[in-house]
Amino acid sequence: MNAIITSIAQAGADVRVFELKSADGTPLPAYAPGAHLDLTLGNGLVRQYSLCCRDPSPERYRIAVKRDPASRGGSAWLHEHAEVGTMLEIGLPRNAFGLGQSNDPHLLLAGGIGITPLLSMAYALLRAGREFHLASFARDQAALPLPDDLTSIALHARVSIHVGLDPHQTRSSLAQLMAGYPRAEVYTCGPAPFMDLVTELGATRFGAQSLHQESFQAPLPASGDRPFRIRLKNGRELDVPVGRSALACLQEAGIDAPCSCEIGVCGTCRVAIVSGQARHHDSFLSDEEKASGKWFLPCVSRATTEVLTLDL
Ligand code: FES
Repeated sequence: MNAIITSIAQAGADVRVFELKSADGTPLPAYAPGAHLDLTLGNGLVRQYSLCCRDPSPERYRIAVKRDPASRGGSAWLHEHAEVGTMLEIGLPRNAFGLGQSNDPHLLLAGGIGITPLLSMAYALLRAGREFHLASFARDQAALPLPDDLTSIALHARVSIHVGLDPHQTRSSLAQLMAGYPRAEVYTCGPAPFMDLVTELGATRFGAQSLHQESFQAPLPASGDRPFRIRLKNGRELDVPVGRSALACLQEAGIDAPCSCEIGVCGTCRVAIVSGQARHHDSFLSDEEKASGKWFLPCVSRATTEVLTLDL
C-alpha cells in the first residue's frame, strides 16, 4: 500500500522520526511490538525499519531512522530526500522479534538506534502492567536516540541511560543490570558487538532460552568463515571467497537472484538447498528452519561444506 509522510522530527543527532499515514485514508494494518515495516524508497531500495509508536493506531505508523555514515542508500535517502508529503510504498508489518508470554521481568537492552523495537515493547509492557526495565546505551548524550520518549513521564522511572562508556564499562553496566534480576527475559537490539556482549552475559545469567535479539545490520565476517563453492542445478560452480557474499557472487555471474534488504532480515533471497550445509547468519529463518537444512539466505549466510548446491 502507499503511505504519506505526515511529519518529520529530529530525535537525537542523526536520527529523524517519520510519521506515516495511508495515502487513501484506509486504516493501517495492526502490528505487535517488535514489528518492522518494509519501505520502498524513492531510489527504489527496500529497507526495514522498526515501528516505534507509543500507542499503536490504525491512523499512523512511526519509525526512527539514524543516518548511517556507511549508508548503502537507505537512511541517506530518508534523511536527504524525504519530506512531509512524500509518498512511499510500504509492506505489511512483519514481526520476528515479538514479546513472549513469560511472566518474568523483561530486560530491554538497546545499543544506539536499536532502541526502536524495544521502545514499542516498553510501551506495550507498560500498558499491560508488566515488570520491565529499558536500558539505552549511546555513544554520548547528543547521540541518544529518541530522548523525549526515554525521559517522558510515562517511561522515565523504568529507563536507564548509559552514555560515553568504553567496552569495559559497558560490560560492567550490563552485568550490573542483569544482577538485579534472578530471572528475566532479555530482548536486545543494536550493533553486533553490543548484542554479542548481551548474549554472552545473558546466557550465563539467565540461560540462552531467555535471550531474544534482532539486528538490522549486515553481520560482520565471523572468525570461522571460509571460502566455499556454490553449485547450481546445471552443474556450474561459483567461488565465494571470504569477505564476499554468496548473493554478490551469484549476481556477478548473471544469476537471477532476487534480493531486498541484503542484511538477512527480509527473506527475499531465500533459496532451497539441494545438498551441503549452510552456516546461517540471518535473522529471518526460525531456529527450526535453520536446523532443517533446507534453506539458505545468500545475502549473509555461508557454507560449512566445501560445496553448497542450491536450487538455482
Ligand atoms: S535480501 Fe533480505 S534476507 Fe537476503
